[in-house]
Amino acid sequence: MCSVYRMGWTRFQIVLSCHLARPQFRGLSTSHFLFGKLLMKNVEHSPTKRMVDITWKDDTSHRYPYIYLRDNCPCSECFFKESGQRLLDVVRDVDINIKPDKVEMSDDGTKLSVAWSDGHVSLLDSDWLFEKRLADEVKPPDFAEVTTRNVVLWGNEIKECIPRLKFHDILSDEEVQFDWLNSLYRYGVMLITDTPVQEGQLDKLGELVGYLRMTAYGKTTLVSTRQKVNSVAYTTYTLPFHSDLPYYECKPGIQMLFCLEQIPTEGGENSLVDSFNVAQQLKKEEPHAYELLTNTHVLFRTKGADILGDYDFEGARPILEVDHLGRLLRCNLNEGTRQCFLGVTADKTQEMYEAYYSFSKRLTDPKNMFLHKLSSGEIVVFDNDRVLHGRTGYTLAEGMGRCLESTYIDWDVARSKLNVLGRKLKKGPVARMDSNLSVVGQWTTA
Ligand SMILES: [Fe+2]
Ligand SMILES: [Zn+2]
Repeated sequence: MCSVYRMGWTRFQIVLSCHLARPQFRGLSTSHFLFGKLLMKNVEHSPTKRMVDITWKDDTSHRYPYIYLRDNCPCSECFFKESGQRLLDVVRDVDINIKPDKVEMSDDGTKLSVAWSDGHVSLLDSDWLFEKRLADEVKPPDFAEVTTRNVVLWGNEIKECIPRLKFHDILSDEEVQFDWLNSLYRYGVMLITDTPVQEGQLDKLGELVGYLRMTAYGKTTLVSTRQKVNSVAYTTYTLPFHSDLPYYECKPGIQMLFCLEQIPTEGGENSLVDSFNVAQQLKKEEPHAYELLTNTHVLFRTKGADILGDYDFEGARPILEVDHLGRLLRCNLNEGTRQCFLGVTADKTQEMYEAYYSFSKRLTDPKNMFLHKLSSGEIVVFDNDRVLHGRTGYTLAEGMGRCLESTYIDWDVARSKLNVLGRKLKKGPVARMDSNLSVVGQWTTA
C-alpha cells in the first residue's frame, strides 16, 4: 500500500520496491552541499525490503535497513555523545522487525525525521546519514597487495630518508608529536635525536603518548652486557632479525631503543628491515612459500627470571599473520624462541623449511635491509609488528661498553593519541578502522 505524507516537510511516497542502479561511492561536487552540508534530494522507503532509500543531490543513492537506522539513532536517549557509546541495548529495547510509521525529509534536504512504530522518533542529519552509509558490495582486496593500509613500504633506500625528530621538539610541540606518531605509522621506523643521555627519557615519551607497556622484563630494560644473562640480547653475539615477544598473545606494537652508550669500535650496529615489503616480494615470486608462512602456526616459548620473578611464556602464531581478507597484520619472526611448526606432517616439513629459509634470506638481502649504528642520545622507534630488528656482533675491550634502554608502547595507545592530536590540530590523516570493509585489526588513514 502506498501513502503520501505531508508533515510540513517535503512529502514523498512510500514505495513498495525500488530498482535504482547502485553506483559505488564517488566524490561529490560542492554544488551538492549547503554550507558544507551534504544534501538529500529524495527519500523513499520500502516496507517489503525493509529499507530507507536516500538519493543525494548528485543522483547517487544509498540504502539503510530499518533495524540499522534504529540501532544507530544518535539522539541523547539512544546515544551518549560524550564518550561515543550506545545507551540503547538493541536486543532488549528494539523489535528486530521494527519499521517506520513516517519518514520525512526537510525541505532543504539536510534532515530526515523517522517516526518508528515503537513511538521513538529519530532526527537524522544528512552528513550523519552519509557517514553511516553502507556499501552495496565489498570489493575483495587486490591480491598482489600484502596490505591496503596507507603505509609506505621501503627497502634500504630508507637509510637516506629515515624520519628524524628531536627529542625536545617532540616533548614541547604537539605538531611534532603528531609527525612522530604519523611517520611511525607510515614508515614503521623513525629516529629521535638529541635526547639527554640519562635514564628516564623513555618514560617521558611514554607519558606523552599515554603509558609504556609493562612486560615480564619491566617497564624499561637496560640492554647491556650483563653478568648473568637470561637472553642472548645481553651478550655481544650477532642477533638475527626478529620481532620482540611473539610468545605474548598481546604482543607489544611499538618498540623504542635508546642508546646511552655505544662502542667506538666495529660492530654493535642495529639492523632493520620492512618485513611487509619483503613479504610482498615473496608473495609475488613464491606464492606457495608465502601461503605456508601465513597458514602455519609457529610455537614460540621462553622461560627464565627477571625483575618480576620467574616467567614461562608460550604462544603460537603464523610468521606472517594476516586478517580475514589476507592482508598483513604482523610479522612474527623470532629464531631464538621458535620451537616448531605446528601441524606440519613429515612429508611437508622440508617444504615448510624451504619457505622459512626463503623469507629469512630475503630479509638480509642488502636491497631490503639497512644498518644504523646508534649514537648516544639517539632513539630508534619502530613498529614491532612490521619492522624486524637485529644487531651485528661486537667485541668488548677494556673500559668500553654498549648500553641501550628498551621499552614498548601498545599501538592502541599510540593510535588513540594520533586520533586525538589529528582532531585537535585539524590535520589529517587520522588513524581509523576501515569501516567500509569491516576489517578487524586493519586501520587506515582518511
Ligand atoms: Fe629485540
Ligand atoms: Zn534515539
